[in-house]
Amino acid sequence: MAEPKILIVDDELIVIKSAERVLKSEGYSVEGALGGREAILKMGQNSFDLVFTDLKMPEVDGITLIRWIKKTKPDVGIVIITGYPSQDTIKEALELGIIDYVPKPFTPSVLLDVTERAVEWTKGKKPEEAKTAEEFPPAMAAELDRVIAQLKKKPGALIPVLQRAQEIVGYLPPVVQKRIAKGMNIPEAEVHSVVSFYSFFTMKPRGDHNIRVCLGTACYVKGIEGVLKKIQDTLKINVGETTEDRKFSIEAVRCLGACGLAPVMVIDQETYGAMSPKKALEKISQFDPTIIESASAEQAEEMAEKEA
Ligand code: FES
Repeated sequence: MAEPKILIVDDELIVIKSAERVLKSEGYSVEGALGGREAILKMGQNSFDLVFTDLKMPEVDGITLIRWIKKTKPDVGIVIITGYPSQDTIKEALELGIIDYVPKPFTPSVLLDVTERAVEWTKGKKPEEAKTAEEFPPAMAAELDRVIAQLKKKPGALIPVLQRAQEIVGYLPPVVQKRIAKGMNIPEAEVHSVVSFYSFFTMKPRGDHNIRVCLGTACYVKGIEGVLKKIQDTLKINVGETTEDRKFSIEAVRCLGACGLAPVMVIDQETYGAMSPKKALEKISQFDPTIIESASAEQAEEMAEKEA
């Protein structure tokens, strides 16, 4: 197969020019498009194997362009170039089926590394990391590598790297720990012992919404046990587990530092005080209204059983 044809899409000419310079120096065939609209026009006239696109662009943005490519030209590989690689953005793009992403501003070596992986994809060979794609997609691996490279020389870098890794991947499975150990040049056992020691690190996947229930003394005295039981029974999971649809996880913590509001529960970053089982369900149901419906259906069933 001839070298793949690459289209670089960005609303900043300087980004297109610098990517072109790097990729052309390695013999790739490259063209640029100043925005999503121009990209669609060019893709109608010529065929490309890979598209590297920015996300934030006026008129036709990157996500719209990706959706269009997936619908009309599903064989074209897509890589995103973004200056804002938040987990949500990456997640959305991954769900649309991108191969990888390049953080902006990029260095020539990162761009070439990602391009090489993307080219492998177009040739039908899965890149090494894709073997574990289910739990650790390549785009997340690239971001993790970037974080490791940025922090590894700093003293005490392991904990900040693990924190960032957990933000990127959502949890720290063995494959992630292994990559960190390799990247930081330290034994895997050292990484594993730090992950197991600190309760804020988790090796199990978390749901989209993490429910932290305080089991500290003040909350316990004010009845958090009943709140926790209600949440567990409703979501049908125990502390440390995630619902099957990956929507919710429950975590138990010792004092959230808001004892005056006891009993306390935190969902994601939001703290809720003076919780009762009913109030807790109401708060959780803002993320999934069916929770209240199924809880009241169960309650009605229970009452009917008692009456019978
Ligand atoms: S004991 Fe629950 S917030 Fe302090």
